[in-house]
Amino acid sequence: MRRPLLLVCSLWLLSGAASPQLVDKPSPQRIAILGTGYVGLVSGAGLADIGHHVVCADVVQEKIDKLNQGIMPIYEPGIKDLVIKNVEAGRLTFSSDVAQAIRDANVIITAVGTPMNENGEADLSALSEVIKALCQNLTSYKVICTKSTVPIGTNKKIKEILSTKLGSNASFDIVSNPEFLREGSALKDFFTTNPIVIGSDSEKALNIMEDLYKPLVDNGVTLIKTDIASAETIKYAWNSYSATKIAYVDELSHLCNAVGANISTVVNGMSFSEKLLPVRNVKPGPGFGGSCLPKDTAALLAIGKKLGIDLSIIAAVRKSNETHRQEILKEFYSLLGNSVAGKKIAILGLSFKANTDDIRYSPAIEMIQKLLNDGAKVYAYDPQAMNNMVKIISEITYCSSPEEALDHADALLVLTDWDEFKQLDLTHAAEIMAQRVIFDARNIFDPSQLAQLDFSFKNLGYAY
Ligand SMILES: NC(=O)c1ccc[n+]([C@@H]2O[C@H](COP(=O)([O-])OP(=O)(O)OC[C@H]3O[C@@H](n4cnc5c(N)ncnc54)[C@H](O)[C@@H]3O)[C@@H](O)[C@H]2O)c1
Repeated sequence: MRRPLLLVCSLWLLSGAASPQLVDKPSPQRIAILGTGYVGLVSGAGLADIGHHVVCADVVQEKIDKLNQGIMPIYEPGIKDLVIKNVEAGRLTFSSDVAQAIRDANVIITAVGTPMNENGEADLSALSEVIKALCQNLTSYKVICTKSTVPIGTNKKIKEILSTKLGSNASFDIVSNPEFLREGSALKDFFTTNPIVIGSDSEKALNIMEDLYKPLVDNGVTLIKTDIASAETIKYAWNSYSATKIAYVDELSHLCNAVGANISTVVNGMSFSEKLLPVRNVKPGPGFGGSCLPKDTAALLAIGKKLGIDLSIIAAVRKSNETHRQEILKEFYSLLGNSVAGKKIAILGLSFKANTDDIRYSPAIEMIQKLLNDGAKVYAYDPQAMNNMVKIISEITYCSSPEEALDHADALLVLTDWDEFKQLDLTHAAEIMAQRVIFDARNIFDPSQLAQLDFSFKNLGYAY
């Protein structure tokens, strides 16, 4: 249950005051922020404001000197007031002594830059310096938290490096805590807008970080606790998604110029599609199909071509849909030793999505045709779509139940997430199948149960 606040953040935002007054303080932590740029300064001041003792450290002495004189090294609305308030309260200090900052803290947050190098990769040289400093100064248990945006797998590497260098003296946990603030609204983003993502393989570290952010969470900020790889991936997925939306609208603006449409009206109209299909409801599957998306993306591309407008995002989306389907089949084949010839393949789901008998442009058509061409014997079941599919592919053996399709099957490929399939008795399936092989292209089965039953299986991005 949320605790009451003396002043809610919305009042703070309206009043233009430095920060919200949060009544519910966490157990104060001693935090060292390593790197006092846009992210480090905002996070440091914000964490001090919710009750922690924070030292913002940086290798640039001039920056620290300025901050100690109350001069901000960056422009960000509200940051000066927030910094001064927390310095005066004795919760926020600045230092160029990175080693001392590490030794004094129990939570260390890295916020150094990770700019792009000439190969398009993240330049991790500043982070390497931080790791060196950590190796030399980890004298007691500390939570080491990466706020810098780092390539997926970096936190695992940091853990390996520190464990190797420190040996039996190693006493730390690693947390990925990516930052989502936007310059210009960074304080608002820190205090109210953005989710807090913390990823770790240590329950202890997750609890410490959860406690650290508690006042924000009590005030309604969403906390996402996850594993390290997912936390790191959220950051890159988030930014790439934002970039895609911006580039898509830019792309459409050329189309609007050419056809005499108004881009702001188009974007406004299009934005309502978010209500029907918010991204949080999008689940991976065997690619989009049905009577609309394949045909209309193709038609829009054709319109662009006639007008000489490059709609490369739409083209990429169609290509991605195609490649994705081929990838699924490739992985399915690999579960079967790369050959399906003579094998009995059970297919659950023929319609392009659940709760319809529509098979127009259903992924099942192309995938089953490929399996049949490669010599597989396909046994399929769908609660509603078989009457339509038989008109297109007669070589399939149509079954009256999932169990009939699975009986003596060498593998199962799930293509549609009908509720009926989610109820499948996997223990029974394991008994009646000739081989325990499943590609669950709708993520309807619990991977840990499949593992327990000794299935060779794959799904779409759902770790266990
Ligand atoms: N700026 C943003 O809007 C934003 C938003 C979200 C995430 N991020 C990510 O956060 C990270 C930091 O971004 P930023 O914009 O704050 O960078 P920045 O360049 O403003 O700040 C980085 C700071 O790290 C300091 N530094 C370098 N090496 C150091 C070391 N060894 N020890 C201590 N300090 C050191 C630099 O002097 C600099 O002050 C990046 O990974 C960035 O991708 C940035």
